[in-house]
Amino acid sequence: MEAKNFNNTHKHHAIVLALPLQGHINPAINLSLKLASSKNFTITFLTFEFLHQQITQAQPTDDSDDIFSRARQGPDALDIRYWAIPDGLPLDFDRTTRLDEFLGWYLYGGMLDHIEKGVEKILFDSKPKVNVLIIDTFYPWASKIAKKFGLRFASFWTEPALVFNLYYHVHLLKHHAHLGCPDTRKDPIDYIPGISSIEPNDLMSYLQDKDISTNMHKLIFQAFEDVRLADYVLCNTVQELEPNTISALQSLMPFYSIGPLFPSKTLQNVVSPSLWAESNCSEWLGPKPNGSVLYVSFGSLASFTKDDVMEIAYGLMESNITFIWVLRPGTVPNEGDQFLPSGFDEIVRGRGVVVPWTNQVAVLTHPAIGGFLTHCGWNSIIESTWYRVPMLCFPVFSDQFTNRKLVVDDWNVGVNLASEKPLRRMEIATQIKSFMSKKTRDELRKNIEVVRKILEDTLEAGGSSKKNIDKFIGQLNN
Ligand SMILES: *[C@@H]1O[C@H](CO)[C@@H](O)[C@H](O)[C@H]1NC(C)=O
Ligand SMILES: *[C@@H]1O[C@H](CO)[C@@H](O)[C@H](O)[C@H]1NC(C)=O
Ligand SMILES: *[C@@H]1O[C@H](CO)[C@@H](O)[C@H](O)[C@H]1NC(C)=O
Ligand SMILES: *[C@@H]1O[C@H](CO)[C@@H](O)[C@H](O)[C@H]1NC(C)=O
Ligand SMILES: *[C@@H]1O[C@H](CO)[C@@H](O)[C@H](O)[C@H]1NC(C)=O
Ligand SMILES: *[C@@H]1O[C@H](CO)[C@@H](O)[C@H](O)[C@H]1NC(C)=O
Repeated sequence: MEAKNFNNTHKHHAIVLALPLQGHINPAINLSLKLASSKNFTITFLTFEFLHQQITQAQPTDDSDDIFSRARQGPDALDIRYWAIPDGLPLDFDRTTRLDEFLGWYLYGGMLDHIEKGVEKILFDSKPKVNVLIIDTFYPWASKIAKKFGLRFASFWTEPALVFNLYYHVHLLKHHAHLGCPDTRKDPIDYIPGISSIEPNDLMSYLQDKDISTNMHKLIFQAFEDVRLADYVLCNTVQELEPNTISALQSLMPFYSIGPLFPSKTLQNVVSPSLWAESNCSEWLGPKPNGSVLYVSFGSLASFTKDDVMEIAYGLMESNITFIWVLRPGTVPNEGDQFLPSGFDEIVRGRGVVVPWTNQVAVLTHPAIGGFLTHCGWNSIIESTWYRVPMLCFPVFSDQFTNRKLVVDDWNVGVNLASEKPLRRMEIATQIKSFMSKKTRDELRKNIEVVRKILEDTLEAGGSSKKNIDKFIGQLNN
């Protein structure tokens, strides 16, 4: 083992700041582990006190100092430091139900002040000297922080390049009346560099909205002005999976595809950043036949009406398929947790189980799992593909509609859950059953092998993501 020299001044030192959402924290952690294992990198992972508190409460039995303790103490002895700072709002401020207020705070400076103070403290006397800020693209004033402290600015994008490309060209959508006008065009969009054609209903939900003057829209539009000032954009995708979009972006900016962000094997379970306590499903899954169980999860953020949840519940019930359903508290806003049909538990007993939250990778890697009914969050898509689980796609909001296009139309590793609104339970039941049939799954699994191979190869020596991450590190030396 190499001698540890935590204060080696001939190392890069990055401050990493993720967006305070599970789907953004997870890839930021993996990126941190990956860079810190490259031997020439110190990482300071900056987080917020409210998140630190939530993660700590979700894992009451874990008595380590912080989420990276095991990464520091393990055989790899990574130099990853962890700092929790206030975001300026009270700890118990409900940032989910009062989202618009939270976004206002975020947009108009309150949060920026606190982050700048935090960065200033880290920089004071830091060894090695901090030279780069790796910050989620959704921070609309990221460039200001980097500039103020003389740091290189690496913008970290946790969604596919296709989504980045569409947001980046919002002005073209406006110019062609596909966005923000009373009579929005319905014909395909065929004028964005690197995208031959995309249907308007495959755009991100925020670009399908009639009202684009909300705080959320302001934040996104401002963030995509700011990212033009980035020294590097690091994207959790793979060149070979989105070649045209990525080439087009590369002709505009230093865009690096570095996904999938899986750290080396020895680091696979050293960090557990879950915001909610995880139910252990492995005992329940144990005796189920291989490939027989449908895993249902709509991620950490999406919300539904009570009626939609009812229809999905009846759909699962009527399908006769065995399932695990992750139904996060808050899935139906302001509804407590009484949103399942009465008698549901008795009817599905033994055949279906509902849990509030679970370790997704542990479920996806279980041989009993045969399919994933997913909201099409980008991390879920990468994980499902990596662990060879075909997807039944039910996008809900944000980038999920656009991600679905990649999964179903471009890579053929999933099928659509045709979802006419309002949802109809019998239709859901029939589609679940046909998706879980051997014929459909065999076909999808054939395609998934191809994509999985691309994900594997890109991480090997000579693979595109491996080369890009090395190139990024190399650039930092100049
Ligand atoms: C590294 O530097 C910090 C102060 O920046 C100091 O507290 C710490 O003891 C040093 N560690 C080693 C191994 O020299
Ligand atoms: C490590 O990073 C430093 C910059 O902090 C650079 O001077 C040095 O050349 C790098 N070493 C390697 C092996 O890349
Ligand atoms: C992070 O890496 C682990 C493997 O260590 C992988 O299972 C997980 O899916 C990765 N998550 C993301 C968001 O990249
Ligand atoms: C889940 O339970 C199984 C036994 O049923 C056990 O082997 C496994 O270690 C548990 N996983 C976690 C993360 O506790
Ligand atoms: C089920 O899958 C496991 C793991 O892939 C394998 O070891 C086992 O042989 C399979 N069982 C059957 C009955 O195919
Ligand atoms: C589920 O099983 C019931 C009872 O055997 C049957 O009537 C129903 O048609 C099945 N549902 C589907 C979608 O096959």
